Amino acid sequence: MARLWLLLILQCLWSVASSFGVAKRAYHVAQSLPTSPLPPSQDPFYTAPPNFAAAAPGAILRLRRAPDVTAVLQNCSVAYNILYRTTDSQYHPTWAVTTLYLPLATPANSTNSTSGTDSTGSGNTNTTSYSPGSYLLSYQTPYDSANIDLSPSYTVYGGALNAYGIPAFLGRGWYINVPDYEGPDASFTAGVQSGHATLDSVRAVLNAGLGLALDVKYAMSGYSGGALASEWAAELQVQYAPELQFVGVALGGLTPNATSVLETINGGGAADLIPNAILGLISQWPDAKAFILSQLKPSGEFNASTFLETLTAPSSFDSVFNGQDIANYFINGISTLSNPIIQRVINSDAIMGYHGVPRMPVFAYKAIADEISVVADTDALIERYCGIGADILYQRNTVGGHTAEFINGNLRQADWLAAAFAGTLSEAFNGTSGPGAGCTVQNVTVAIVTFPS
Ligand SMILES: *[C@@H]1O[C@H](CO)[C@@H](O)[C@H](O)[C@H]1NC(C)=O
Ligand SMILES: *[C@@H]1O[C@H](CO)[C@@H](O)[C@H](O)[C@H]1NC(C)=O
Ligand SMILES: *[C@@H]1O[C@H](CO)[C@@H](O)[C@H](O)[C@H]1NC(C)=O
Ligand SMILES: *[C@@H]1O[C@H](CO)[C@@H](O)[C@H](O)[C@H]1NC(C)=O
Ligand SMILES: *[C@@H]1O[C@H](CO)[C@@H](O)[C@H](O)[C@H]1NC(C)=O
Ligand SMILES: *[C@@H]1O[C@H](CO)[C@@H](O)[C@H](O)[C@H]1NC(C)=O
Ligand SMILES: *[C@@H]1O[C@H](CO)[C@@H](O)[C@H](O)[C@H]1NC(C)=O
Ligand SMILES: *[C@@H]1O[C@H](CO)[C@@H](O)[C@H](O)[C@H]1NC(C)=O
Repeated sequence: MARLWLLLILQCLWSVASSFGVAKRAYHVAQSLPTSPLPPSQDPFYTAPPNFAAAAPGAILRLRRAPDVTAVLQNCSVAYNILYRTTDSQYHPTWAVTTLYLPLATPANSTNSTSGTDSTGSGNTNTTSYSPGSYLLSYQTPYDSANIDLSPSYTVYGGALNAYGIPAFLGRGWYINVPDYEGPDASFTAGVQSGHATLDSVRAVLNAGLGLALDVKYAMSGYSGGALASEWAAELQVQYAPELQFVGVALGGLTPNATSVLETINGGGAADLIPNAILGLISQWPDAKAFILSQLKPSGEFNASTFLETLTAPSSFDSVFNGQDIANYFINGISTLSNPIIQRVINSDAIMGYHGVPRMPVFAYKAIADEISVVADTDALIERYCGIGADILYQRNTVGGHTAEFINGNLRQADWLAAAFAGTLSEAFNGTSGPGAGCTVQNVTVAIVTFPS
């Protein structure tokens, strides 16, 4: 009963926040499950076809017109689900689903002129020349869940994509790709799986065509759990998908070091993320999974059955674990996570910056007071990349925390992406961004919202 009340209160807060255009808790929005269409766990579309492993990464295995999204996603005309071949964290063949959302009409189509105007009110008119299907944004959402039924291809029907500004991106005439990058085991936090599935989702939509121009320009974006997938894709691209040529990647609220994040949020208001992260990560690693399951307490106040309810929880943020010390669920406490079986997995699959260096221009933005992932971790990641020739504009905001920065950064990153698409990064950012621009670190003060967290 208490849990039901918490959920209702959260959902209420969410609607109030939404009605003011403020996406409180945007990094892990409490979503209620839609009642139709079928959840991934019950929909045969989400199953591996025979011989899928023989297909090339990014090959289309199934494609369908998605159940109608127009009632739940403004500015979208039609959407397609694509099941495609990808590669998991152990470099074994797997599959994932992505959804491609088409805009209502591109500015070029509605005006039939080559000189479009940016319709977001950002003031960046005439920076782009639109034609239908010219720009593709792969937007990774922070679904932050070990429950497959919270994959965005399904939660879109509960309105999930509106919080991230997807209708505004569609309104710019962009085609939007939203991959279920955690794959069929909902492997939240597994960096290699998330990066591979993101890259292959882009390959799959390019393979599908679906109105995209032959010379379509494409970029990636994500915040928090979404930036986890975008960042891993950016660092893995040079080795895994060398033929892809992204015009840029925007990374907000980065979480470069999973251990550090865990230490920061344990016992606090975002501790719900921890069981999701542990269960998501070990879903890729059978030995680590067996070990964790053997270490959960069978009974008592903090027990295995509560911990494992995460796998079917109706929300990634239902407050069950908030304020709790997650160490209490383990027979041997926090030392469970420093066991070599777990450390090996964290080191290879949950620490950013060791699998490659992004080759495309990067826009990174982060609140200095981020309370989910300390800014020092992002500073270190950026410094590491900058030491080896990456092109990065990194803006550290003196205002707000993790959720506030999502709101404070969303228009900035969209304008940066628009310039990346238009090939005008250098002009638009005074030489501090774009191919060959090198690295610039700026402290900025952007205060669209000022609440601390
Ligand atoms: C472009 O405009 C034409 C004419 O109004 C319309 O029939 C067509 O559906 C539009 N295409 C897209 C992709 O919106
Ligand atoms: C837009 O203009 C081009 C070139 O003039 C023309 O070929 C095309 O049919 C027009 N499209 C629409 C939807 O009017
Ligand atoms: C946009 O282009 C039009 C036509 O070339 C021009 O008249 C207008 O001044 C431009 N607007 C801006 C903001 O540059
Ligand atoms: C839909 O797109 C239009 C521009 O075409 C934009 O003005 C509007 O804000 C967008 N809707 C939402 C909900 O973002
Ligand atoms: C990750 O964070 C943990 C905890 O703060 C720290 O012990 C470890 O050295 C960090 N790893 C890297 C690669 O920075
Ligand atoms: C597990 O924990 C929950 C919540 O504290 C409790 O309601 C339940 O009875 C416990 N189960 C066992 C087997 O101890
Ligand atoms: C752009 O760079 C020039 C030369 O460094 C500087 O004088 C100017 O203030 C910069 N403008 C902005 C908007 O950063
Ligand atoms: C930004 O602020 C930090 C303190 O948070 C300071 O150490 C650093 O020197 C500043 N960087 C720049 C480029 O001004």
